[in-house]
Amino acid sequence: MSHHPASNFDHLSEGELTAKLEPELLPKHVAVIMDGNGRWAELRGLPRIAGHREGINSVREMITLCLELGIRALTIYAFSQENWNRPTQEISALMELLEHYLSTERASLIEQNVCFRAIGRHELLPPSAQHWVRTTEKETAHLDKLSLTVALSYGGRAEIVDAVKTMMEDVQTGTLQQGLIDETTIRQYLYTHPLPDPDLLIRTSGETRISNFLLWQLAYTELCFTPTLWPDFRRREFLLALIEYQRRERRFGRVPSTVPS
Ligand code: IPE
Ligand code: IPE
Ligand code: MG
Repeated sequence: MSHHPASNFDHLSEGELTAKLEPELLPKHVAVIMDGNGRWAELRGLPRIAGHREGINSVREMITLCLELGIRALTIYAFSQENWNRPTQEISALMELLEHYLSTERASLIEQNVCFRAIGRHELLPPSAQHWVRTTEKETAHLDKLSLTVALSYGGRAEIVDAVKTMMEDVQTGTLQQGLIDETTIRQYLYTHPLPDPDLLIRTSGETRISNFLLWQLAYTELCFTPTLWPDFRRREFLLALIEYQRRERRFGRVPSTVPS
């Protein structure tokens, strides 16, 4: 969406936008870099945390829309490894918000049949946040309508480091044969296993970088960048991103398809 080709849909209602989607061509796995909360707040003269708080409503709407459309996996970047370098005040406000979200939203996740899982180095999170992460994971582990994966204290390079370390241990103990290591093996050691790679990545707030998110998994993902700030990214924006995704031709290195689109 860098050049907003879908903006000629401004006059269309949400229902009309939904009607433009081809159900069988929807992404199976959507990943999101939820960026721009701070700027959203600053534009309103509010503290940055107000933007993070408002951003939770966007998360909620996105979960609902995935459930409605039958998208089975949603992975959202909530806190990066590099975000530990933010002022302690913002970090603790974010952690409080996370705990508040998990403790209050758990019931609704269960009701909606959403399986919650956190990926990243959780051991770095404050104990109370770790508690709510584990509790929510346990209580939703059996649910299967939507896999909601939240990247917390996550870094794509750290994920690869962790995978390599575990693989080396398994080679040492004999559970893994070094000569048999291939791409499928590596995939199995990543935090995201057994999810398929994301078909679509959305990044809000106009930044056009990956910021250490899912480095391995994004190899052939369609990237969608939008200037909309995360707290303003609601159902309509998500529908526009999905329409844009469906207009792309995914080639995976092959020659252009001869099938007319
Ligand atoms: C994204 O919003 C949320 C987190 C990184 C936790 P930002 O906080 O990065 O907002 P901007 O980019 O400063 O506007
Ligand atoms: C990426 O956003 C991380 C999350 C959305 C959680 P940042 O705002 O931290 O990324 P940079 O610093 O702009 O690359
Ligand atoms: Mg940012």
